[in-house]
Amino acid sequence: MQALSTSTPVAVIGAGAMGSGIAQVAAQAGHQVFLLDQREGAAEAGRQSIVKQLQRRVDKGRIEQSALDALINRITPVNQLDDLASAGLVIEAIVEDRDIKRSLLTSLEQVCDDDTILATNTSSISVTALGAKMKNPSRLVGMHFFNPAPLMALVEVVKGLATSDAVAQCVYATAAQWGKKPVTATSTPGFIVNRVARPFYAESLRLLQEQTTDSATLDAIMREAGGFRMGAFELTDLIGHDVNYAVTSSVFNSYYQDTRFLPSLVQKDLVDAGRLGRKTGQGFYNYAEGAQKPLP
Ligand code: NAI
Repeated sequence: MQALSTSTPVAVIGAGAMGSGIAQVAAQAGHQVFLLDQREGAAEAGRQSIVKQLQRRVDKGRIEQSALDALINRITPVNQLDDLASAGLVIEAIVEDRDIKRSLLTSLEQVCDDDTILATNTSSISVTALGAKMKNPSRLVGMHFFNPAPLMALVEVVKGLATSDAVAQCVYATAAQWGKKPVTATSTPGFIVNRVARPFYAESLRLLQEQTTDSATLDAIMREAGGFRMGAFELTDLIGHDVNYAVTSSVFNSYYQDTRFLPSLVQKDLVDAGRLGRKTGQGFYNYAEGAQKPLP
C-alpha cells in the first residue's frame, strides 16, 4: 500500500505538545495541514510555537527563512470540524480520555469522506475500544508519535481488531515517507514503548516515595551512569504529568488492576496541584526563566 500523496491535506486535532509537533512533521513533508483545537486561540498558539522553534534553526543557519515561511504557510489554524472535510488523513491528539476521543471520532465520521483515514495518537487507550462506536472502525488506526514529534523517529502504527490492513499499511508508508521509523503493534495496553517504560517510571517514583534519593540525583544518575538521555522525573515533566498519569491509570485498569502498573500517589499529587511539568512551568522541577531547577 502506498503512502499518502503530499497533495492530500492532513488534519491534526489538538494543538498541544503533540498535535503541534505532528502538524510540523506533516507540513515539513509537504502536506497542507489544518490544525484544530477546542480552546480558543490554541491552534494559532500551536502554529506560533512551531515558528518559534524553527526560527532558532534559521538563526543557526540550518534552514532557510524561505523554507520556514513556506512550511508555516502550509499550516492553517481552523475552528470547527467542518473545516477538516477535505482532509485525507485526520490525526487526533486531544486529551487522553476514552469517551472524549470516541465522541470526536464519531463526529469526524459525519464530516469526513468515507475513505478518509482516521488516526489516533493515543498513548495507551485501546484502538479497538476507540473504534467500537464508529460506523466504520476499519478506517481507524493508531499513529503514535513520541515527544517531541519533530525530533523523535519512532511511530507506533497500532492495529485495532477492526483496523483494515490497507489503512495500517498506508499509515506505515506515510510515516516512513515523513522520515519516521514506523513499527507495527497490536492494540495491547500501552502498545510497545509505553508498556516497557512503565516500570522505569514506577520504580523511580517508588524510590522517591521511599526517600531513597531525590529527583535531581536520580535523574543525574540515569543520565550520567545509566546512559539514558533523560531520567524519569525530567522525562515525565516533559511528557506532562496529566498525560503520564492517565497512561499509567489506563494500563493499570486494562490489566485488571495488576499492581505492577499501580499509579503513583506522588504523581497524582502533582496532577492535583496543577504542577503538570514544563507546560505549566512546574513539575518535579521549576522551569522559570528557562532553567530546570529542582523543587522540594
Ligand atoms: P496537551 O494537553 O499538550 O494537548 C491536548 C490539546 O487537545 C489541548 O490543547 C486541548 O485544548 C485539546 N483538546 C482537548 N480535547 C479536545 C477536543 N475534544 N477537541 C479539540 N481539541 C481538544 O496533550 P499532549 O501531550 O499533546 O497529548 C495529546 C495526546 O497525545 C494524548 O492522547 C496523549 O496520550 C498523546 N501522547 C502524548 C505524549 C506526550 O509525551 N505528551 C506522547 C505521545 C502521545
